[in-house]
Order: sequence, then structure tokens, then C-alpha cells
Amino acid sequence: MEHMVAIIMAAGHGKRMRSEKPKVLHTVCGKPMIDHVVGAAKEATGNQPVVIVGVGREAVMAHLEGRADFAIQAEQKGTGHAVMMAEGYLIGKEGYAVVLAGDMPLLKAETIAALCKKCKEEDLDAVVLTSIANNPTGYGRIIRDTTGNILRIVEEKDANAEEKLVKEVNSSVYCFKIEGLLNCLGNLSCNNAQGEYYLTDCIAQLSASGAVGGLIADAEECSGVNDKAQLAAAEAIMRKRINHKYLVDGVMMIDPDHTYIEDGAVIGQDTLLYPNCHIRGKSVIGKNCVIESGTVIADSTLGDDCHIRDSVIMESTVGDRVTIGPFAYLRPQTVVEDEVHIGDFVETKKARIGKGTKMPHLTYVGDADVGAHCNIACGTIFANYDGLTKYKTVVGDKVFIGCNVNLVAPAMVGEGAYIAAGTTVVGEVPAGALSVGRSEQYIKEEWADEKREKGELREVY
Ligand code: UD1
Ligand code: CA
Repeated sequence: MEHMVAIIMAAGHGKRMRSEKPKVLHTVCGKPMIDHVVGAAKEATGNQPVVIVGVGREAVMAHLEGRADFAIQAEQKGTGHAVMMAEGYLIGKEGYAVVLAGDMPLLKAETIAALCKKCKEEDLDAVVLTSIANNPTGYGRIIRDTTGNILRIVEEKDANAEEKLVKEVNSSVYCFKIEGLLNCLGNLSCNNAQGEYYLTDCIAQLSASGAVGGLIADAEECSGVNDKAQLAAAEAIMRKRINHKYLVDGVMMIDPDHTYIEDGAVIGQDTLLYPNCHIRGKSVIGKNCVIESGTVIADSTLGDDCHIRDSVIMESTVGDRVTIGPFAYLRPQTVVEDEVHIGDFVETKKARIGKGTKMPHLTYVGDADVGAHCNIACGTIFANYDGLTKYKTVVGDKVFIGCNVNLVAPAMVGEGAYIAAGTTVVGEVPAGALSVGRSEQYIKEEWADEKREKGELREVY
């Protein structure tokens, strides 16, 4: 059986990132760079890739566990040396090895597949993915003969003045016939300006003994990330790609350059996203919603026809025709049923809010089950925590809760009950009852007027 394995080099320092985090774990549109590469490699080859890890390998391996095989390169002696570390996965196998770098998040699966296809169909020993760079500084240059055949790749530091003028550069992505690659790796030396084993030298060997091809790809797709400026540039390109996909699918954005969607979200037709919205993780948003500026929706589900303004929704489920915000915070395990209105400065956590219930402002609902068609007025607090344990509060359907009410959990308010403003509810309020729990009002006639006459009031107008 013909084998197709991807080898992803990710052992280098990434010093220019100036970060304690391994380079390939830095994210592009919410996903670590290495995930983009592993995903593309897997899609193109159909197999789990081998990742060469070195610096920061504990973190990289823990992150990729179950999604990749690993080869350890304890000391970074160059790209050729890196691939040598994966020999165990190649020896005795017939077929092709695709070599990739872990810092190329923009590389598409279809490009990797085209590279492999060319290698197979034209029966080549290797195909190099190249691109034409406006500024080739820093890259290995592709040296071709007068008929256009690739002879070798020369690194910037080893190149002469004439070679440095070449604009075609090595992307560091290749497809090799496994047998030939193994032979070349055995012949590599580190007799060059950097004292490293260059994988690029395999191309010169294979060109001399067999046939090497080149595939010219889009420079943008081939750009690697070496520092945080390039990371931001890659993010902008990836964002454009992702947003374009959603736009074509019928989602609307006022300003796609400032709309942040992590690939993997599902968004319905005619939903309108304002600038500075963030849709993260595995979120599902229905049709005809309006999501206004500043909203963050993470790992949550929203129904159709919702209107969300400047709010944060985390790991929650929201029904149809719900209005939320501005400035609401739905924390994990909130379930909001259809036609609910959650207004400004409302926070919820581990709570069900029944159909049609309104809580227009300044409310905290935690560890609660609130029925349908309730009205929860300004300043209601579900006091769920006694300092040791959290307790649940259950509110039935059609309950009216006045302003500034505390519900001290575990509390129970029966269907249709009324709670007067300022009440602190403890225990159970029966269905249909009124609960008033506040001290009686005291009035002293003319008190203020008398004080004022004596000049004993500090008047502020
Ligand atoms: C390499 C290529 C160069 C190409 C450029 C494209 C070589 C000799 N040069 O140069 O022709 O234009 O990429 O970006 O291959 N790595 C290891 N172990 C090592 C060294 C590197 O795993 O010992 C990994 C790095 O983590 C990185 C990748 O290999 O993911 C490329 O290494 P890097 O040092 O960036 O190579 P360049 O010098 O840029
Ligand atoms: Ca590089």
C-alpha cells in the first residue's frame, strides 16, 4: 500500500517571537498555529501527521495529544536533522512524505494535496512548494537551470550576490518519495554558513540523481510566522478568509475587517454582525439575528431573530426572539427560553429563564430556575451563596418580583405570587400570595422644613 505521511517541523526556538510560549502554540483566529497546519496536513493526506517537537515540547505534545504522532529533536541542528528524527516513521514504508513547517498557518490543504498529486502523477522524487517574493531576504532561493529545472536551494546566508537576486523562494514545504528522502538524509552534512543539516540540500541531491519539480504557490499562503508582527498579519489574512466564507453563506457584516469569528461557528442567513463582535468556539447562531458591537459569544447557541447588544454570552443556550443587553453577562449553563428580555447590567449563571420572562435591568440570577412570563424588576438579587455552599432558587410561572428584592436561596416562589419591592424572601412563598418583607415606613411631618429654617441642613441645589 502506498503510504502518505506528513512530517511537521516544529522543534525550533522561535526566538523572534519573544515569548515564553512555544511559537507554534500562538493562535491565529483563536486556534494555535500548529492546529491549522495539523488540520491541513490531515485533510490533504488522510493520515495523522508526525510532529517534530523540541523546544517547549511538553506543552506542544500535551496540546496535540491524540491528534498527532511525535518525534523528538532534543537539539536543533537544522531542518534536515529535524526530519531525520522522524526516520522511524518512514523506514520500510513505500510512498510519499510531505514535509511542512509548523509556523505556516495560512497553508491550505488543497495546496498540500496539489503538491502530492504533482509528485505522484509526474513520478518525481521531490516537489518543492515555492513562491515569488517581493522581498526574498531571509528565504532560501530556488536555483533553476536554463531550462527551468530546479537544481538546488541556497540559503540566504550561503548565497552569493547573484543568487540573492532570485525572487523565487523556498516555502519549506515539500513532497518527497520516501525512499529517496531517506537516502538523502543519510548523506547530509553541516558544511555550510550556519553549521546545520539543511533539508534543502536533499533537493540538490535528488536533482542530481533524479527528477525534482516545483509548484509555485501564492506568496501569502506560504508566509511563515517568525515574530508577532507576522502573527498579526497572518491573523488578518485568516480573518479575511473566514469572514469571506460566512459572507458568501449569507451572513451580513457591517465591517468584515473588524468582525472576529473563529472558524467552526455556525451562523444563519441574514444575521447581521456589527463591528467588534467576537464569535468564538463552537457557537451556533440562528437566522435574522442582530449582534451589536462589543458582543462576545463563546461556545453558545442562539436561536433565530435575537437581538444582542454589547453583551457577553458564555457556554449558554438562548432561544428565539430573545433580546439581550446592552451590557448583560450570561455565564455558563444559562438557558434562556424564547421571547425573554434580558436588559442592561443583568448577570446570569447556571439558570433557566422561562419563556417570555423579562428582567430589564440590574439583576443577578444564579443557580435558579425561573418560570415563564415573570417580571423581575430592577435590582433583584438571587443570593445563592452562604459563603460555603451554593443553593438553588425556584420561581414559578407568572411571578412578579418588585424592585430591589433579595431571594435568599434555597427559596421557592409559587406560581403567580407577588413579591413587594424591597423584600428579602427566605424560604417559601406560596402560589398566588403576596410577600412583603421590609420594615414599616416612618414619617415625621415637617422634619426637613424645620431643620432647614434652623440652618441645620446642608442644602445642595
Ligand atoms: C527554512 C528553509 C528556507 C526557507 C524557509 C521558509 C532550510 C535550511 N531553510 O529556513 O529555505 O526559505 O525555511 O520559511 O530548511 N526546525 C526544527 N528543527 C530545527 C530547525 C528548524 O524543527 O533544527 C523547524 C522550525 O521550528 C520551523 C521550521 O523548521 O518550524 C523552519 O525552520 P527555520 O529556522 O524557520 O528555517 P529558516 O532558516 O527560516
Ligand atoms: Ca522560518
